[in-house]
Parts: sequence; structure tokens; C-alpha cells
Amino acid sequence: MRRFLVAGNWKMNTNRASGQELAAALAVDSPAAEDGVEVLVCPPYPYLTTISDKVAGSGVQVGAQDVYFEASGAFTGEVAVDMLRDVGCDYVIIGHSERRHVMGETDETINRKVKAAIAGGLKVILCVGELLSDREGGHTESVLDAQMTGGLADISEQDGKDLVIAYEPVWAIGTGVTASPEQAESAHEHLRNWIANRYNSTFSDNVRILYGGSVKPDNAETLMGQTNVDGALVGGASLKPDLFVPIIDAARKLATA
Ligand code: 13P
Repeated sequence: MRRFLVAGNWKMNTNRASGQELAAALAVDSPAAEDGVEVLVCPPYPYLTTISDKVAGSGVQVGAQDVYFEASGAFTGEVAVDMLRDVGCDYVIIGHSERRHVMGETDETINRKVKAAIAGGLKVILCVGELLSDREGGHTESVLDAQMTGGLADISEQDGKDLVIAYEPVWAIGTGVTASPEQAESAHEHLRNWIANRYNSTFSDNVRILYGGSVKPDNAETLMGQTNVDGALVGGASLKPDLFVPIIDAARKLATA
């Protein structure tokens, strides 16, 4: 049985005070030993420590939005896996579409980050997703396959035991256009089959695949209610408790149904 994961990717938003306020509200909503739903927030780097402190003792976990693959040294501006662990991170998002398309990250870089994060004990949320032009050209599945093959190169079943995949169609991110439940389910099923072929069905049965792209309270339950959708990676709506909590509640409802 896969446990729902509802993750908030704050991107380059909030400040110290508003982040603390948001985290405090979520901590109240998600006490420790919370039911069938795992809740995660991914604040900007400078606020990781303060947000970790704020949610300590609650059911809310903390993750980073990126990481560098080297352990230490002369890499100005970069942040290492051990540093993230040191400030209380359990998870790290790797290969988000904004890193791929705004910062120009390649599958090779992403793979190096995935390896470093796993080796250092962080749980990885590997993001994949096609551009609108890929979808319109009928290339969605081949794009996803290439991102999975590249991102997970040399990752064994043992390495991947805590792996989470996030399917985020680029055309649905921050646009208000959500993938239909059928489009999401079709991509998620494809990804799960890819994992079964590359690894095995026990492994693919256990890997959680989150949907991301304009998830809101009014579409969360239908999206997460799809057979192969195991939670959500939420951007804009994760910045307001009155939008994010109903999304967590939708997962709770599905988990107990
Ligand atoms: P939005 O929910 O704002 O569309 O962002 C999705 C996303 O990119 C989460 O990582």
C-alpha cells in the first residue's frame, strides 16, 4: 500500500516571517504520527533551518528544492547533501522543470545529483515532464522515458527504495491549466510500467508517483484518486494554508476511503 505524499514546493517565494507562519499553520494541521498521508514542505535554502525548527515534533517534513552533487569544496553558490541533512532535510527535489528549462540542467547533471542525494541519505523526488510541444507532437512518452533513463542511470533497486517520482507536465505548471485526470493517469501508468520494466513489479508497486501542475483544492481529489497517482507536488497553492490544507485533506479522505 503506497502512502500518499503531499509536498509543497515553495519555489523562490516567502520570506522568513511568512514562511514561519505558513509552516506553523501546517504543523498544527499535521501532528506527529499523522494518518495515511505524508506532508512535506520545500522552502528556499535560506529558510530551511528556521522552517525545520518550526515544524519539529509535528508530522510535517522538510525538503530542499535542489542540491549539488559534490560533497564540498570550491563550488560557489552550491549546497551539498550533508548540509541539507544538517539543517533537517529528509527530502530533496531534483530535476524540477524550472531547473531543466530555466537553468539548463541536463539529465546527466540530474543523475549525478540523484546519486549524490541517495548516497548521502536524502530521499529523492525526481521530476519528469513534457513540454506542450512534446505533447502536441505525440512525444510525451518518449520524453518521459528519456528523462527516466537519464535521471536513474546506475541507480539500483536498493538505491531507489525511497525514490519518489513527480510527473509535472511543463504546460500545466503555474498556468492554471491542469492535466485532466485521464492525462495524468495515462502518464503515471506509463511511468510505473517503465519502472516495472527497468526494475521489477514489486519495486514499481512501491514507488510513489506524484502529480504536479496547477493542483488546487478543487481538482486535488480527482487527480489523486487516480489509480497510479500517489500524491501531489504543489507550487502556488502550497503557499497558502487555506489552499494547501484542503489538498492534504483530499489525500486523507482518499487514504481512509
Ligand atoms: P503550480 O502548482 O504552481 O502549478 O506548480 C507546480 C510545480 O511546479 C510544483 O513543483
